[in-house]
Formats: sequence, structure tokens, C-alpha cells
Amino acid sequence: MPTPIDIAPAHGKLGVLLVGLGAVSTTTIAGVLAIRKGLSKPIGSLTQMGTVRLGKRTEGRSPKINDVVPLSSLDDLVFGGWDIFNDDCYTAAKTAGVLEPALLEKVRPELEKIRPWPAVFDQRYVKRLDGPNVKKGKNKRDLAEQVMEDIRRFKDENKLDRLVMVWCGSTEVFMTESEAHSSMKNFERALEENDPAIPSSMVYAYAAIRMGIPYANAAPNLTADIPALVELAAHTKSPLAGKDLKTGQTLIKTIIAPGLKARLLGVAGWYSTNILGNRDGEVLDDPESFKTKEESKKSVLDYILQPQLYPDLYQDLCHVVRINYYPPRGDNKEGWDNIDLVGWLGYPMQLKINFLCRDSILAAPIVLDVALFLDLAKRANMHGIQEWLSFYFKSPVHAPGLYPEHDLFIQLMKLKNTLRYLKGEELITHLGREYYD
Ligand SMILES: NC(=O)c1ccc[n+]([C@@H]2O[C@H](COP(=O)([O-])OP(=O)(O)OC[C@H]3O[C@@H](n4cnc5c(N)ncnc54)[C@H](O)[C@@H]3O)[C@@H](O)[C@H]2O)c1
Repeated sequence: MPTPIDIAPAHGKLGVLLVGLGAVSTTTIAGVLAIRKGLSKPIGSLTQMGTVRLGKRTEGRSPKINDVVPLSSLDDLVFGGWDIFNDDCYTAAKTAGVLEPALLEKVRPELEKIRPWPAVFDQRYVKRLDGPNVKKGKNKRDLAEQVMEDIRRFKDENKLDRLVMVWCGSTEVFMTESEAHSSMKNFERALEENDPAIPSSMVYAYAAIRMGIPYANAAPNLTADIPALVELAAHTKSPLAGKDLKTGQTLIKTIIAPGLKARLLGVAGWYSTNILGNRDGEVLDDPESFKTKEESKKSVLDYILQPQLYPDLYQDLCHVVRINYYPPRGDNKEGWDNIDLVGWLGYPMQLKINFLCRDSILAAPIVLDVALFLDLAKRANMHGIQEWLSFYFKSPVHAPGLYPEHDLFIQLMKLKNTLRYLKGEELITHLGREYYD
């Protein structure tokens, strides 16, 4: 029998730091408050509703995940965060328009108490936004120190034991790795010199990781997935996860594509388009922010279908992704997928998917799970990139030289096997010979 890993207990309060108190964050916070009061159920959350099979199928052991590993209770979560707008969380949730006013009224006093701290923001990285609640500082290092000060104050005022940070801010413009990102030394110099290679999101990520706080990126922009911050995370023992929450169309893609590949059906084309009317849609209307999202969405099929291994089936795949900003729909996105399939002897077929989803309703349970699992990782002394959390992301962060795992079912197996590993339970391989010997 493998030995269990030492995990510190989840005693005391966990502070959840959310950067950007927009649709995703306020839906997460209001949701947790409503669930605590017994008004709603945590549907979509593995940490609250999921089970994990332990041992052989004949043992009948399938406890709930939160009975297997020590996770922070929802009652012990305290939320805080930053935004460029001054609105408290109640007003921000109303603006986001995701949750019914009647539900928001029931958690209004708690939501109103959460007021955003001034943000680190520069319009150069999010062209379609501007707001008044912004920090001033002599350089980016100074801004990072101010973020650390906010965190320390929040921790003291609320008597918190532990913290996690999740970037739920707007998608920043497309950036690639550069010299400033290559080592901690270069990165800290770049902070001092106000180097444009450091967007606002990296300032927050740096502040969290410097303090040993677990950090996740819910958006597709480049933040902690650079050598400098991975290096820092190794020093401060900070777990990292990201990036870009796997919701909506990409979630469906990573459910359907592994099935088509399993049956060795060819795919000649996959056209995805959707309409979205929230602030995220408005930001993505800017070509530079859209490029960040497009890169994140498009890589998924290549990794799942592996055209290099199956050239006859996927080599000529034409994959197109469009997002159209359409205000009347608000947060209720509608996506259309047209998949041109190829079957036996090359005969063509088509599959059409019309998904009327709610973006933030799909995103909120992920933010909750990622926060709780990252806190678990920290207490289990697992630091750096947490590949077992790939399940939640469109562009899972991964070690250099490895390809990311996008298949939702492999990702789930990886996640559950990690929980078994932590508890010293046998990993499940699904071989199943033992039942017939
Ligand atoms: N909703 C989903 O299903 C989903 C899925 C994947 C990724 N995402 C990503 O999550 C992020 C949040 O999505 P959303 O729908 O909540 O968007 P949103 O526009 O409602 O909220 C983003 C908030 O971030 C704030 N912000 C921007 N830059 C900031 C900064 N530097 N510091 C502090 N606050 C800042 C904005 O003012 C805004 O209030 C986006 O990047 C989006 O692409 C969302």
C-alpha cells in the first residue's frame, strides 16, 4: 500500500483574493454566500459534490472528495479583491447581470461589505477599459509592494490563516515571453524599470508568489506561466495553476473531440462561433485581447486529435474560432459549432452543436474548486505547476518540453489519481484483470 502524504489540516479561515470583481468573481462570491445559507446547491463543483472511487469496484467505496482530503469549508472562506471600478460586490453583481435580483437581495449585506481595493492597471494592456480606482506608484515594483500591503492588511483584519489568489480580471493583450521574463533577476529589474513586458496581471502574480500564496490565472493572458515566476514559486513554495477557465464552447470541444478520436473518425473542419454581450465580450472585441483568447481556444484540438500521429484523419483540419460581441445577450452566451466529420471510406458527415450556456455560471464552480484545491496543494507541500488541475483550464500550464493534456477524461483521471496519491490509496488504472483471474 502506498504511504499517504502529510497534509496540514485546513484549520482557520482561508482568504480568497480575486483580482477583478466582475461577472465571474461576483457570481462565485454570491454563489458561495447563497450556498452557505442553504439557498442554492453547488452544482458544477467537484470539491462540493464530487466523489472519488477508492480501491476495487467490489469494495463499494466512493466517498465524497471533501471527505477524502481536508478542504477548507465554505464557511471559512473570506473574499477580498481589486478592481478598477469602485463598485462594491453587490453593485458589481447587479451590473454583471448574471444572478437574479431576488437571490442577490438575500446575500446583499455580505456582498456590500466587499469593496474593491485600488487596482494595478494600465490601459495599454486592456484597451477597451478605463476606471477610476487605480493605484499610483513610482514603478511596477512599488505597485507590487502596495498589493502585498493590501494582502497583509486583509489577512490581519480578518484573522486569516491562509490565502489564495485567482486572477479573474479582463483578458490582457497578447504577449509572448521575452528577456524580462527569463529569470527572477531580470524580472525584478524589469519591475524597477517599468518594462512594458510586465502587464498588470504579472504584478499581482509576483506579489502573491513572493508571499508564498498559491496563484491561479482564470484568463488566457501571460502571467505566472513564465520562467521567472515559476522560479520564484519554487523558492517560496507557491502552487500555480492556469490558465483560462474551461467553460462554454471549449468545454464541449474537449468532451466531443476525444470521443471522435476514440472512434478514429476524421475531422476535416471545425467552425466555432459565438455571441456574448458581457464586459468580457466587450474587451474581447479588441483584436489584441481576442488574439490572446483565440490562441488559447485554438490549440485544444491539435493537442487532442494529434494530427502528427493520425495524418489521414486530422492533418488538413480547418479550425476557425469567432467571438462576436452582441450586447443584448449579456452573460448568456450562445455558441454554434459545425463539425465536418469523415467516416469509413472517406464519406462526409456533419455534427451541429448549439449551446445556450451561461458563461459565469459555468465559471464560478471552477474558481471555487481551484481556490480550494490550490490551498490543499499548499498544505500538502506541492508547489510549482499543478498539472492535476488541468481539468479546469483551456490552456493548462505544463512543464517545459511536455505537451499539455487537454482531454477532459484524462484530466479527470489525473485529478482523482492525485487525490488517491495524497491519501496513500492505490491509483486506479482501469486494467481490471483482477476481477477475472
Ligand atoms: N466567464 C467565463 O466563462 C470565462 C471563461 C474563461 C475565462 N474567463 C476570463 O475570466 C476573466 C473574467 O471574466 P468576467 O466575465 O468576469 O469579465 P468581467 O469583464 O465581468 O470582469 C473582469 C473585471 O476585471 C477588472 N479588471 C480588469 N483589469 C484589472 C486589473 N488590472 N486589476 C483589477 N481589476 C481589473 C474589470 O474592471 C472587470 O470588473 C476574463 O479575462 C475572461 O476572459 C471567463
